[in-house]
Formats: sequence, C-alpha cells, structure tokens
Amino acid sequence: MLEIKGLSLAIQSKEAATLAVQDVSLTIAAGRVVGLVGESGCGKTLTAQAVLRLGEYQCIERVKGDVLWKGESVFDMSDTRLRKMRGGQVAMIFQEPMTALNPVFSIGSQMVEVIRLHLGLSKAKAREHAVQYLEDVGLDEAQHLLNQYPDSLSGGMRQRVLIAMAMSLHPECIIADEPTTALDVSVQKRIIALLRKLQQEKNLGMLLVTHDFGLVAEMCDDVVVMYAGEMVELGSVLDIFDHPAHPYTQALMGCRPEMVKEGEALTVIEGQVPAPGQWPKGCHFAPRCARASDACREKTIAMDAWQHGEHQARCIHVQEQA
Ligand SMILES: Nc1ncnc2c1ncn2[C@@H]1O[C@H](COP(=O)(O)OP(=O)(O)O)[C@@H](O)[C@H]1O
Ligand SMILES: [Mg+2]
Repeated sequence: MLEIKGLSLAIQSKEAATLAVQDVSLTIAAGRVVGLVGESGCGKTLTAQAVLRLGEYQCIERVKGDVLWKGESVFDMSDTRLRKMRGGQVAMIFQEPMTALNPVFSIGSQMVEVIRLHLGLSKAKAREHAVQYLEDVGLDEAQHLLNQYPDSLSGGMRQRVLIAMAMSLHPECIIADEPTTALDVSVQKRIIALLRKLQQEKNLGMLLVTHDFGLVAEMCDDVVVMYAGEMVELGSVLDIFDHPAHPYTQALMGCRPEMVKEGEALTVIEGQVPAPGQWPKGCHFAPRCARASDACREKTIAMDAWQHGEHQARCIHVQEQA
C-alpha cells in the first residue's frame, strides 16, 4: 500500500542543503503496523512527514528515493491529488494535539468543514457524521462537544477528537507521530487501546512513530530502527525483541524500564545523537558503540540480511556474526 524507497531528505537553507535522512526504505501493507523507533533527533518525524510531503513547508527537500502510495509517487502528485490523499486516504495524527487543532474554531466547524470537503456531504449530514465518529472514539455528549473550542478540552480529549477527525474521512492508512507522548500515562493507555481497536476493525495500515518499545510490542508487526538519519535495523517485532542485531537496537532495548531489575540503575546510552551535518564518516553510531572498530569508521555500511531476508541490520559486526 505504502512504500518508502531509498528516501533521502535534506534541510535546505540559503547557504546549503544538509542531509537529514539517508536511504530509508520501508513498506506498509493493509492491516499492518510498522513502528519507526529511535531516540529524539534521529529523523523519524521527517521520514513520517515525507509520506504526505509535509516537510516542504519547513524547507525539507527530497534528495533521492521515492514515496509510493499504491504505486503512485507522492512527489509526482498534483496539488489537488495530494489534498485528496491527505486525510482522505492517508491520515496523520500528531504528537501535540493542541497544535493540530485551530483554537479559533469550534470542534464542530473544524470537523464539519473537513468532512464536507472530503466526502461531499451536506452540512447537516456532515454534522451527523462528525457526531458518530466522536461517539466512536469514546467521547460523550458529542452534540455538545461540537460547539466547544479546543481550549476547553483536556489533552486526552483533544487527541480523541483528532483521531475522530482522522477516522471520519475513512482513511486506509494512518501516520501516527508519537500520538501519546504528550499525554498522561493513564490516558496514553486508553488512546493506544482505541487506536489498536480502530486499526484492527478497519484493517488500516499504520506507521507508528515512537520511542516507546512497550508501545511497539503492543501495536506493531514490523519495526524500523533509525539512528542519526539512517535506518539501522529492520525486522518483525519478534526479530527485534528476541534477536536485536544492531548494537544501537540492543542498547535501546537495554534502556527499557521493564528490563531493569529492582535496585538497578536504568541503562542509558552514553553520548548524543549527532545532528544533521555532524554525522561521522562510516557508521553513524560508531562513536557511541562499544564494539566499533576502525573498519566501522572508514566506509559506508549497507543494510544486510541477518537471520533471514526480512531481518536486516546496518552493522559489519552483525555481518561477521552471521
Ligand atoms: N525544518 C528543520 N530545519 C532544521 N533542522 C531540522 C528541521 N526539521 C528537523 N530538523 C533536524 O533534523 C533532525 C531530525 O529531526 P526529526 O525528524 O524531527 O527527529 P525525530 O522525530 O526522530 O526526533 C533533528 O536534528 C532536527 O533538529
Ligand atoms: Mg519526532
């Protein structure tokens, strides 16, 4: 359904173009959930936004590769075609629900407008449709809610409204960028349960950006691990949890709170993710990697199959093990 193929993206400034995402490839089939994981600053959001060409508003340019929606390049789409795809076929759910809602319009006017635009319903029918989807995501008194403004809702309610908005257009695929990061833990659980239920009921494809491995275990079929603009590992959830291959994935897994026994300190990965423009030569993770050797710092390392073709990692030591 959705295919990202060797995608490289650059941040364009007056002086220069700085590579920020390099050679990322992944595929999402109907009904499958792909998790995109990595620390903050690894290029997850840039990659996710490229699916709907949203980076263009922030001077992010495609350098190489492609994004195919059902075989059609999103970069070749006309503005009209792209508007139809955004929301109508591929919906985006953002991390911060407040920024995605317009504070000066009521929930009703925002939802009804978008529903009319995409589904061509009358105002009254669009209102009914909105109410139905607000109820579907577990919001009570939906009629009353339509007249309220985003300010008067809690974070959890706003995120439910955004999910209702997304679902009301009958998308086939959802791009969810840290959809619960800004919410309280108890609210997170309920929002995740809701997303999971909707995804399964409607057989949606989903790209789930997160740095939370608990969420990956709960939701995802496949996982792509990103580090400093590159994908470093790709595999099924089982591959990644049972046999993480790349030292970065192993380190991330070791950082999970549930991996730590009582009384033990939480492991952290020493050092920081280098920003675009400051990537080292060779393996981007080498400066933080205990296993790094001279060879790691010399040449570009390719993704390579490990246990089987669908489990791949970008690490020469993994290749030696194999
Ligand atoms: N519009 C932009 N201009 C300059 N730098 C950017 C822009 N967008 C993202 N970046 C930088 O690109 C890197 C990757 O960003 P992002 O995709 O948001 O990471 P993630 O979502 O994994 O935390 C970060 O270092 C970030 O600061
Ligand atoms: Mg992000």
